[in-house]
Amino acid sequence: MSARLYGSPSESSRRITVRDLAAAKVDGDKWPMITSYDAITAGIFDEAGIPVMLVGDSAAMVVYGYDSTIPITVDDLIPLTRAVVRGSHRAMVVADLPFGSYQEGPAQALATATRFMKEAGAHAVKLEGGERVLPQVEALVAAGIPVMGHLGLTPQSVHALGGYRVQGRGEAGQILMRDAKNLQAAGAFAVVLEVVPHDLADTVTRSLAIPTVGIGAGATTDAQVLVWQDLAGLTPGAPAKFVKQYADLRSSLSDAVRTWAGDVVAGTYPDEAHQYS
Ligand code: KIV
Repeated sequence: MSARLYGSPSESSRRITVRDLAAAKVDGDKWPMITSYDAITAGIFDEAGIPVMLVGDSAAMVVYGYDSTIPITVDDLIPLTRAVVRGSHRAMVVADLPFGSYQEGPAQALATATRFMKEAGAHAVKLEGGERVLPQVEALVAAGIPVMGHLGLTPQSVHALGGYRVQGRGEAGQILMRDAKNLQAAGAFAVVLEVVPHDLADTVTRSLAIPTVGIGAGATTDAQVLVWQDLAGLTPGAPAKFVKQYADLRSSLSDAVRTWAGDVVAGTYPDEAHQYS
């Protein structure tokens, strides 16, 4: 991984910027993006050298307990974004624009993105869609707001897509390729490709000058993103095929809290070492 992008905060006194990501694409350096929704995980991921954090609208499910990303609002996401910015020093923080906060058109998108930049301190925003959001992307870029696109399985459109299913197979791949090129032309600095065939993601990645960020899109995208609770094994139930669990935090946390609760019930916590004289 690139020394430019990957390193501890103490090695760098400034935040990662879109220029660093553009340079990584030129140099062929891959980078990780991870979701974060609070100051503590933001600090851990920052210390781990993660260059880009996404305050995803996946917070709807993993923070707020909804069964899709559709209900979450701008007012729900702004405090989480503010916490991630406060908890990090080096990562670029990208805020997701939630469903209903940009679809009306460029003026609505600009008003929403402006809130994330001013009230939460976000460094960039992400929005879902191709052709239909190009005027929004152009308006944000013209206003000096870095925009990350999002194509393929766009969860805010889950009902129109007929479920969480692989996108871009067959002729739909040509539409996705056109959308990706149009997002680049509109000024997007990167584009997420979610749950698409790996060969399509590879072709798109090689066709674009901006970085692609894959999630369920194979190994050859310029970057990868995962929801942190998925990779840490905290999310209940069977993970999606593309998720690799790098830890089993659900078991660890469950064991810890059960042991503590048992100690409380048995009267063995707090012991002498954990009380004041
Ligand atoms: O909301 C989110 O977490 C996302 C990523 C999964 C790309 O959009």
